[in-house]
Amino acid sequence: MNNRLLTYPAILAALFFLLGSSAAFSGDIESGRSKAVVCNHCHKDNHDSSIPKIAGQHENYIVEQLLAYRNGQRKDKIMETVISRLKHRDDIYDLAAYYASLPVALDINLAGQKNPLGHEVFENKIRCYQCHGAKGGGNPLAEPIIPSIAGQNKDYIVKRLMEFQSQNSRHSQSNPMSEIAKQLDIIDIFSVSEYISSMQPEEP
Ligand code: HEC
Ligand code: HEC
Repeated sequence: MNNRLLTYPAILAALFFLLGSSAAFSGDIESGRSKAVVCNHCHKDNHDSSIPKIAGQHENYIVEQLLAYRNGQRKDKIMETVISRLKHRDDIYDLAAYYASLPVALDINLAGQKNPLGHEVFENKIRCYQCHGAKGGGNPLAEPIIPSIAGQNKDYIVKRLMEFQSQNSRHSQSNPMSEIAKQLDIIDIFSVSEYISSMQPEEP
C-alpha cells in the first residue's frame, strides 16, 4: 500500500533531475553556430577593444550574463536590444555552447608584453589570481561563477572595472567585484587591464 507514496517522491526527483539538467546545459553547438551570425558582427575578430571577446568563455557564465541582460539586471543598450530579439529561450543556451566551444582569440601583438604595475596589482595588491586563477582562466564551478579574463580586450576591462567601482554594493551582494574595484585607483585600473589583456589563456 505504500508503493504509491514511495513512487511520488521518486517521480518528483526524476522530474527535478530532468528539468534541472535541461535548464543547466542543453545548448547545441551547431544550432548556436548558425544563430551566431548576427553576434559575429561585433564579437568575431573584433578589433574594437571596447567589445568583449566571448569565444572560449565559460558556457554557464555566458548564459548567466545573457539572462542578466534580458532581465535588466545588467544594463547595456546594445545587448539588451540584441537579446530581446532572440525568439526562443533555447537560443541563449545554443549560443553559449557555441562560443564556449571556440578557442580564445589571442592578440599576438600583445603576447608577452607584461605591464609591471598591472602584474603587481594582479599578484600582490589585490590578488586577482585567487579567484580568476594564475592564468586568468576563472572558475565555472564557483558560486558566483568566475569568468575567464585572460586575453580579454583592454578597453572593455577598463570599462567593466569602472562600472563595478561605481556600483552600489548593496545591490550586488553576491558580486565581489564592486568592493574589489573600489580598492583600485585609475592607474591601477589601466595597468591591470593592460596586463590581463596580454595574458595567455590556458588551452581548453
Ligand atoms: C552591435 C554589436 C553587438 C552585437 C550584434 C552583439 N553584441 Fe554582445 N556585446 C556587445 C557589447 C558592446 C558588449 C559589452 C556590453 C557591456 O559592457 O555590458 C557585449 C557583451 C556581451 C556579453 C557579455 C560578455 C562578458 O564578458 O561579460 C555576451 C555574453 C555577449 N555580448 C553575447 C552576445 C551574443 C550571444 C550576441 C548575439 C545574439 C551578441 N552578443 C551580439 C556588442 C554586441
Ligand atoms: C573574490 C573573488 C574575486 C577577486 C579577488 C577578483 N574577482 Fe573579478 N570577478 C569575480 C566574479 C565572481 C566575477 C563575475 C561578476 C559578475 O557576474 O558580474 C568577476 C568579474 C570580473 C570581470 C568582468 C569580466 C567580464 O567578462 O565582464 C573583470 C574584468 C574582473 N573580474 C577583473 C578582476 C580584477 C582585475 C581583479 C583584481 C584587481 C579581480 N577581478 C579580482 C571574482 C573576483
